[in-house]
Amino acid sequence: MDKLSIRGGKPLNGSIAMSGAKNAALPILCAALLSEEALVLDNLPRLQDIASMLKLLRQHGVEVSGEQPGPVALRTPHLASDEAPYEIVKTMRASILVLGPLVARFGRARVSLPGGCAIGARPVDQHIKGLEKLGAKVTIEQGYILAEAKRLKGARIVTDMVTVTGTENLLMAATLAEGQTIIENAAREPEVVDLANCLIAMGARIQGAGTDRIIIDGVARLHGAKHRIIPDRIETGTFLCAVAAVGGDVTLTGAAPRTLDAVIEKLREAGADISHNGDWIRVRNDRRLKAVNARTLPYPGFPTDMQAQLMALNTTADGAGVITETIFENRFMHVPELTRLGANIRIENDTAIVQGVPTLSGARVMATDLRASASLVIAGLIAHGETVIDRIYHLDRGYEQMERKLAAIGADIQRVKS
Ligand code: UD1
Repeated sequence: MDKLSIRGGKPLNGSIAMSGAKNAALPILCAALLSEEALVLDNLPRLQDIASMLKLLRQHGVEVSGEQPGPVALRTPHLASDEAPYEIVKTMRASILVLGPLVARFGRARVSLPGGCAIGARPVDQHIKGLEKLGAKVTIEQGYILAEAKRLKGARIVTDMVTVTGTENLLMAATLAEGQTIIENAAREPEVVDLANCLIAMGARIQGAGTDRIIIDGVARLHGAKHRIIPDRIETGTFLCAVAAVGGDVTLTGAAPRTLDAVIEKLREAGADISHNGDWIRVRNDRRLKAVNARTLPYPGFPTDMQAQLMALNTTADGAGVITETIFENRFMHVPELTRLGANIRIENDTAIVQGVPTLSGARVMATDLRASASLVIAGLIAHGETVIDRIYHLDRGYEQMERKLAAIGADIQRVKS
């Protein structure tokens, strides 16, 4: 297993390009199942999760051509297998996103239940209930969700909570259903909007994406399209936090500042100087930051996927920051590792109270999940001495060449191959 070695305390300066959004790319790749014609995708990030999704799609019968970073074309002339096997689903929960498209176009799907993960139980009951509303017969057998429907029928669906992949699954399913579907309490995340825009380019009739009420008028078939994946707002937010915490002056290009309002506001509150325009963001800081409070919420609130990184920033800020996690029940796995680097953090139920310390000191730490790994990288960049982060395969799932991007702006960081 590869490790990262970081010698912290060096300011970050320069310019780096942001990658396409993982969480937009994953559902959009699954949208290729909805048409027999080619879906051509640009700006796909080169990540382990994308490779896993392409592997899953290939075994369903999707023909993939083109090499990243160039455009990748996906065609699904016919179904090779209706099963998403446990071996793939267990490595990537987003595999559940094939469920809606498979039932909608081929009338049948067998998708392994994802099970829990490091950050919480993460059930998929809303995906299942929504599909049942659309007329699918769903049973659970031997750890698999078996869903069948001759043709899905439009319905009004009200989800119990805001769910991102739940909204995406039902949105894709409804594009080919007979009649109108209304998804109430829909997720408003930019990734949902990007998926909707791709589906619209494929001929789907969708209104209201980006609001909590999405209206879909089903069509008989979808056609091919070209689509460019939006920039990754979590990757961008992670670099913003890193530069704000460590100090320096960095411009992030190929970004989507308008999807980052809550994060930018927090960093400004902490004292970082942030400017942006169109597709770039510049972050500057040369002082000790002020600790900030945050509460994770569905978009446009502060993203749970940025919680760990903001906590890393708070570790050496002036004062105490209170961070409340409302989306996932077990998303503080980075806390004991940050403590190993000298952070002063107390957890009370869903809240972490971070008392800023003057500095962190390098140590060996262990990555536990994707965004926790990012917070350890930020802490390692702050810390004096060497920090070695183990199990960085978590980081590779969601950040494209993070160590190279950081090295390009002056970080002393190396991947240690095992
Ligand atoms: C997506 C993102 C993930 C992000 C999360 C919240 C992708 C591939 N992943 O995950 O990075 O952290 O949104 O912004 O886009 N829930 C249920 N039943 C369901 C569905 C969800 O109880 O059927 C609960 C979850 O356990 C969680 C909350 O709803 O507590 C929100 O989860 P959800 O938005 O579905 O997260 P994901 O779509 O899995």
